Amino acid sequence: MPLNNLVMEQDGKVFTIQISRPAKKNALTQDMYRGLIQAFEKADADDRIHCIFLRGTQDCFCAGNDLKDFLETGAQAAADFVKCISQVKKPIVAAVNGPTVGVGTTMLLHCDVVVAAEEAYFMMPFTDLGLCPEAGASYLLPRLLGQCRASELLLLGTRINAANACELGLINRVCTAQEYVEVGRTLAEELAAKPLAAILATKALIRKHQEPLVAQAISNENEQFISLLNTEESRRIMTAFFSKG
Ligand code: COA
Repeated sequence: MPLNNLVMEQDGKVFTIQISRPAKKNALTQDMYRGLIQAFEKADADDRIHCIFLRGTQDCFCAGNDLKDFLETGAQAAADFVKCISQVKKPIVAAVNGPTVGVGTTMLLHCDVVVAAEEAYFMMPFTDLGLCPEAGASYLLPRLLGQCRASELLLLGTRINAANACELGLINRVCTAQEYVEVGRTLAEELAAKPLAAILATKALIRKHQEPLVAQAISNENEQFISLLNTEESRRIMTAFFSKG
């Protein structure tokens, strides 16, 4: 069993972080968030690492926050993770397939290059759960897609496939399920081979202007999210998820 359902591997200048809890569709628990934070901090601090490669298991990226954990322990660990990934300095390449739900999708807004398999699907069903967006999605998505399309994804929670996500500019490339991990890894290696100072400066410049706005959005969202998470309605919906027949 990998530690905290995460598998880490350093190969040359690329540090791979694999989310691996396939029996629960890689839903993220408190311990997994803590492990992810430690992994990102290590990657940022280690000069030998030039690029982070983030992936799930072969058929699934991440079904979002573990809903049992939300009911039992709240959202602090998730909030800490979101803050951390929004501030990572090294480039992050993500490779996704299958369910990419909730924070599974919103964390991609903080990655630099995203490759998806054709079967990947993206969904942010926050309102269906009685919740609101997180990870700065309420600011970043309207900016990226326009208010109309962002509202459809965040208010209606419409599920989109990899081709739609690519057309919208949410992800960079779509390839087959057989190739997507290798394509992602190759792009990570390509990035890692470039001069590190130039890569770090470029990533920082791309994100610099939006940084305070993203931080403010994350903080506003957290306040609402925590209050909604404690409502009877949201708790009832999440409890019902586990009693589906
Ligand atoms: N939290 C906790 N457990 C989860 C989970 C989550 N977010 N997502 C999936 N699981 C568990 C299921 O309870 C099930 O466990 P079981 O086999 O012990 O019953 C297992 O993972 C497989 O899930 P299942 O629903 O059977 O898979 P599916 O392929 O039919 O559907 C999803 C995949 C992702 C569409 C569906 O699992 C789902 O909607 N999950 C919740 C997503 C969500 O709301 N995330 C939070 C967003 S804020």
